[in-house]
Amino acid sequence: MKHKITLIPGDGIGPEVTGATISVLRATGFEAEWETFVVGAEALSRFGDPLPQDLIDSIKRNKIALKGPVATPIGTGFVSSNVRLRKALDLYANLRPIKSLKGVPSRYEDINLIVVRENTEDLYSGLEHEVVPGVVESLKIITDKASRRIAKFAFEYARLEGRKKITAIHKANIMKLSDGLFLRCFREVAEDYPEIKADDLIVDNTCMQLVINPNQFDVLLLENLYGDIVSDLCAGLIGGLGVAPGANIGEEIAVFEAVHGAAPTIAGRGIANPTALLLSAVLMLKHLNERDRALRIQAALEKVLAEGKVLTRDLGGQATTLDFTEAIIHAL
Ligand code: NAI
Repeated sequence: MKHKITLIPGDGIGPEVTGATISVLRATGFEAEWETFVVGAEALSRFGDPLPQDLIDSIKRNKIALKGPVATPIGTGFVSSNVRLRKALDLYANLRPIKSLKGVPSRYEDINLIVVRENTEDLYSGLEHEVVPGVVESLKIITDKASRRIAKFAFEYARLEGRKKITAIHKANIMKLSDGLFLRCFREVAEDYPEIKADDLIVDNTCMQLVINPNQFDVLLLENLYGDIVSDLCAGLIGGLGVAPGANIGEEIAVFEAVHGAAPTIAGRGIANPTALLLSAVLMLKHLNERDRALRIQAALEKVLAEGKVLTRDLGGQATTLDFTEAIIHAL
């Protein structure tokens, strides 16, 4: 069956890692018609909008997209296209599996966590204004609807994957109303899932506990901003951003992308690690019921990493993106 998929190569290392991922997908015989779009600064200069409506329409039609990272200017300039995209498509759940890979140097060898991040509200919406010169206000909006919806998603996912425990992460001791609401919704939703243990932890303590003893956790549920920060910390537990995959999921639509960004300092040098996007593509294949191909790619990738002969620089090797991709295709 030929799938129709929207493709966003993205900025920086985006085109390099998406190119590598598509080569591996093709090597399994996976057939897709890719509808390719530019987003961000290039789209702004070419079409007058960093997030063109044609792209949104394409994803709405195809219901699925594979996305490279898109850069956002810091402190000035246009609103993040990533945030706008997640909102426009109501991709309310951000799923980030954090699993150790044999052969990838890291502090721990047996991590198997899931990070579930609310993807549509919180301080991450960037709703800010200057009240008077020298004073700015940033709005943290948390709703009952979004908090319940993401809690339900986390419990359903945990049930499907046979997970035993969900820990809601918050700062409800200080933000009693906003984080308090998020926590209350979590606790109420948890009552419908008695077989899954539900507990909670304050976000600063969580960061320390993750560094000291990450295996005490199973599924982490977080608001948008804490989820953004803590999932990078979690990526660091398994060897860094080069190996951490992700998916943005809505009621009908899913956009698969790595946790990492555009990595401008290594862009264009052919040395980026495509593992994170490749693992995101494995999640995409499972979503498309292409389980065999997903497992074949996962096995080939794990073999190359475990052998340790062809590794990119972030993993301590000397291989280029192309060498690494060819090694995976050979292993397939
Ligand atoms: P980043 O994730 O691009 O880079 C952080 C560090 O990780 C850098 O040292 C980089 O070289 C390394 N790294 C990341 N991915 C790698 C890979 N695949 N292989 C090897 N090394 C890798 O984070 P940063 O520097 O904060 O952001 C750069 C740009 O990316 C910004 O404009 C930011 O807005 C954007 N960004 C976009 C995201 C998205 O589209 N989902 C997510 C995060 C950042």
